Amino acid sequence: MIELSHLSAVDRVAELGYWIGPPFRGHGYATEAARAMCEVGFRTLRLHRIEAGALARNHASIHVLEKAGLRHEGVLRERVRIGGRWLDRVWLARLAG
Ligand SMILES: CC(C)(COP(=O)(O)OP(=O)(O)OC[C@H]1O[C@@H](n2cnc3c(N)ncnc32)[C@H](O)[C@@H]1OP(=O)(O)O)[C@@H](O)C(=O)NCCC(=O)NCCS
Repeated sequence: MIELSHLSAVDRVAELGYWIGPPFRGHGYATEAARAMCEVGFRTLRLHRIEAGALARNHASIHVLEKAGLRHEGVLRERVRIGGRWLDRVWLARLAG
């Protein structure tokens, strides 16, 4: 699954999110899909900015976003609560052009 959500026609921004079934991970599918979705976002939807968040410990996802051309913008400290623990979230984005 891959999607562009929270799309704003005014700001021409959308959020990238994805999930790969466990048996299919580690084959480059998420990277391929993220790159393709960026092309759709910038070329077809004429977005100005595509952004994404990931748990700071989700190194595979952060790597996927980096390979799709997104750049680090910051850390949202203790933004998510999982199993009673507060976890940091990182935020990345890619601009058109
Ligand atoms: C994150 C996720 C989408 C990655 O999917 P995938 O198809 O395995 O990703 P790819 O194979 O395209 O790329 C993964 C990259 O991360 C790297 N990677 C994997 N585990 C890693 C780790 N623990 N630390 C650093 N890099 C890691 C891989 O080596 C690969 O990089 P490479 O191509 O340079 O070798 C998948 O694990 C998933 O669906 N996880 C659960 C849902 C999720 O986290 N979604 C994202 C929410 S932000």
